[in-house]
Amino acid sequence: MADSYDLVVIGGGPGGYTAAIRAAQLKMKVACIEKRPNKAFGGTCLNVGCIPSKALLDSSEMYEATLHKLARHGIRVGSVALDLATMLARKDKVVSELTGGVGYLFKKYGVTPHYGTGKLLGGGKVEETAVDGAKTVLETKNILLATGSESTELPFLKFDGKFVVSSTEALTFQSVPKHLIVVGGGYIGLELGSVWKRLGSKVTVLEFLPRILSISDGEISMEVQKLLSKQGMEFHLETKVTGASIKSDQVTVTAQSKDGKELSFTGDRVLVAVGRRPFTAGLGLDEARVKYDPKSGRVEVDEHYKTSAPGIYAIGDLIAGPMLAHKASEEGVVCVEHLAGMKPHVNYDAIPSVIYIWPEVSSVGLTEEQLKEKKIDYKIGKFKFAATGRAKAMDETDGWVKVLTDAKTDRVLGVHILGPRASDLIAECVTIMEYKGSAEDIARCAHSHPTLSEAVGEAARMAWTGMPLNS
Ligand code: FAD
Ligand code: NAI
Repeated sequence: MADSYDLVVIGGGPGGYTAAIRAAQLKMKVACIEKRPNKAFGGTCLNVGCIPSKALLDSSEMYEATLHKLARHGIRVGSVALDLATMLARKDKVVSELTGGVGYLFKKYGVTPHYGTGKLLGGGKVEETAVDGAKTVLETKNILLATGSESTELPFLKFDGKFVVSSTEALTFQSVPKHLIVVGGGYIGLELGSVWKRLGSKVTVLEFLPRILSISDGEISMEVQKLLSKQGMEFHLETKVTGASIKSDQVTVTAQSKDGKELSFTGDRVLVAVGRRPFTAGLGLDEARVKYDPKSGRVEVDEHYKTSAPGIYAIGDLIAGPMLAHKASEEGVVCVEHLAGMKPHVNYDAIPSVIYIWPEVSSVGLTEEQLKEKKIDYKIGKFKFAATGRAKAMDETDGWVKVLTDAKTDRVLGVHILGPRASDLIAECVTIMEYKGSAEDIARCAHSHPTLSEAVGEAARMAWTGMPLNS
């Protein structure tokens, strides 16, 4: 007899596991299938994405601060040495504690974990193939596809797991590369490039477009390039990679500049970070008549995450929108709450994004470039961290907060932050945007003194009145 459920979730990442827990809280009988051979839930995010990369970013930031910043605070240390093995082991411990935490939550709320690969059989049936090949069929009223994404491979620069690698291997290098060549100046290229640069690598970034972080606020992406260059990263923009060859443990990447010049870069590792693609291999989408865009691989859904096949839903990296963990979780929760008869929705205008380099970059809403494109009349309020007491006290004065508002109504349309702890500062702006608030609303909220958040208040005041109080 097949096991029978209200909901079977295929994929145990932040989209899938969060949806499974919420559905169980809403009294559904839920199973979640995950194919990772180590039986670890948490998906890309916990295992090989957000968490291990942030663990290394935090550790490498401390190393960098010890080497280059502590002396300015009057702290002298003796000789500083990198213990990479311990740094990697700490990262692995953080990962295993968090993935174990998902298992604990499944137990607590009654989600049944299944370890294997899920495949749609049609008619409310899912086949699960365990690592040893054993097959089980699960019967269910609803199926949620949350199989996430995988690194995009360039046909002329194939991953070999050693010299030409994806982010997964770049999180586990056993020694610091002498020269890391990074193809792609986006999230992964800059975050993992920063990790290895801080730990001692020479880092060269090759980017196809005229600027790094091409979807970020233009002014911020230019400043990021300036600051990362000051930290020692080298950038080649408008550079089209054409191939690579490996000789004596060295990789030579060939490329073409904008004006057609042949270029070559030799290093000991190449990180290819040119985006990610939905992961649907072996899922049985065609057999189950689930429509997807053949070019992008993204599964098509309506506003309630319903696919073209009755009773089958999809969320997260598998569908349109930014490939971010919190976006996947929000969709998972909203999708299953709909199944339970509730009426929530995801506000895609208020999904924040963060790039965890130093100084950090965070953003919510429209950029100036998008406002111009949409012909929306807007005002700008900009406030530099250098004018705040806290940033001065921290000796972290690079960057600014930029608040963009509707010129007529003062409603906040976008906020873009480059600066220390921008990751945490954006939360206030997300709340204001969620409540359709104005720059005046932000400015009239008291911001503790002295905190970095005062820069958000002052930038908002600047957008609202045209004048900050402290600059
Ligand atoms: P995933 O997390 O990809 O989970 C899908 C799961 O489904 C996987 O575990 C996979 O093994 C499983 N699966 C696939 N097919 C099957 C099948 N047929 N049967 C069973 N299981 C299956 N986002 C952020 O918001 N913040 C960050 O700081 C951040 N950092 C990142 C750093 C890196 C290096 C990378 C690569 C990504 C990062 N991301 C970050 C993006 C984030 O990881 C993804 O957006 C998020 O994990 C997507 O969640 P998901 O649930 O849709 O899919
Ligand atoms: P990305 O989309 O952020 O950046 C890819 C970059 O590669 C772009 O700048 C693009 O122009 C460039 N590119 C594309 N083809 C190229 C080529 N042939 N040669 C040179 N450059 C080329 O993708 P990335 O960095 O791989 O990350 C994937 C996704 O993972 C991100 O889009 C994001 O959604 C998620 N992520 C989120 C993080 C966060 O939230 N902090 C951190 C890491 C990843």
